[in-house]
Amino acid sequence: MYSIKPDIIIEKVSESSIKKFPLGKEILVISSKTVSENHGLHEIFDGLKNDSQLHIFNHVRPDAPFEDLDLVLDKLKGVELDSIIAIGGGSTIDAAKALSVAFGNTSYKDVFYGRSPIPTEKIKLLAIPTTAGTGAELSFGAILYDKVNGKKGGIRGEIVQPDYVLIDANLHNGCPTALKAEVGFDCLTHAIETYISKKSTALVRIQSINCIKTIFQHLVPACKNDSIEDMEKVAIVSTLMGINLAFSSTCLPHRIQYVIGPMTETSHAQGLIAIYKGWLKHLQQENIEAFNLLASDLNLTVDQFIEKVDKLKNELNINFGITKLGLHEHNINEIANKVSGNMQVDPSYKDRSSINNVLKLAL
Ligand SMILES: [Fe+2]
Repeated sequence: MYSIKPDIIIEKVSESSIKKFPLGKEILVISSKTVSENHGLHEIFDGLKNDSQLHIFNHVRPDAPFEDLDLVLDKLKGVELDSIIAIGGGSTIDAAKALSVAFGNTSYKDVFYGRSPIPTEKIKLLAIPTTAGTGAELSFGAILYDKVNGKKGGIRGEIVQPDYVLIDANLHNGCPTALKAEVGFDCLTHAIETYISKKSTALVRIQSINCIKTIFQHLVPACKNDSIEDMEKVAIVSTLMGINLAFSSTCLPHRIQYVIGPMTETSHAQGLIAIYKGWLKHLQQENIEAFNLLASDLNLTVDQFIEKVDKLKNELNINFGITKLGLHEHNINEIANKVSGNMQVDPSYKDRSSINNVLKLAL
């Protein structure tokens, strides 16, 4: 099954573009600080205030910690919200996804810890992503962080998918070049992994191939020339990869990154870039059929595909392995033992030694 469900509008963010979505009278706005300062959002919000009551917050930190969500819930106790607008990167959107459930009268913490099932009701959510890559605006998960208990985890279910998405490439283009390049690579990993995964389907694979071609062609000019036309194409495939994530899965690189990230205090995308140095070679060594098919769908050999990814990384100045993140050969066993989650979906996974090999090749 593959359905493209949320209403998506691609145009400049403005009072009139936001009003195209039925958001009601009482609206919570979660936006990242930098975005609201740099894109004249205050004027847009002032315009919206003529018809609606807006509750604006811009305090959500990376990883969407529980306390940032609780602050909103405390301050708005007793308010009957109609909807949420989330403007920001992955953490902002994930926080808003969890809040859309919380304001639908379910404790998000109970869902997070498996004490309650994922609810069937929530309030409407409009996601306006400001980075192109995470796919958070369409995926079925919200990744949160319980700082007190040191647990990073997720609320997962179709219900947390935003109801509406507005894509404005101007917002994406406001990001620093290095961030655009790195997050763009995350988008590429979603395309490759959802294709390779044992959970993949024919529809997922077609979307992946389209995304990989788009990234190969448009990510460099989007980053280097600040080209809006190229950025918009990257932003669209990035959003579509959110659907691929919902209907297929990621593979070993994402499982390994969840260990390496907190260990090295590096971003999700940086970890993936480093791990890909090893994982693509590992797939080649293991002669994985899905990898051969992916290359052939792109009219390339596996060698040529790996070279193309390398060339892309060089052009974007992001060609590095795990050594750059401060990891060495003696760390590999420790990392391999900590990796958790469903690894069987990766056709190249046999046992822990597969992770060791990926990491050795990624040094
Ligand atoms: Fe990712």
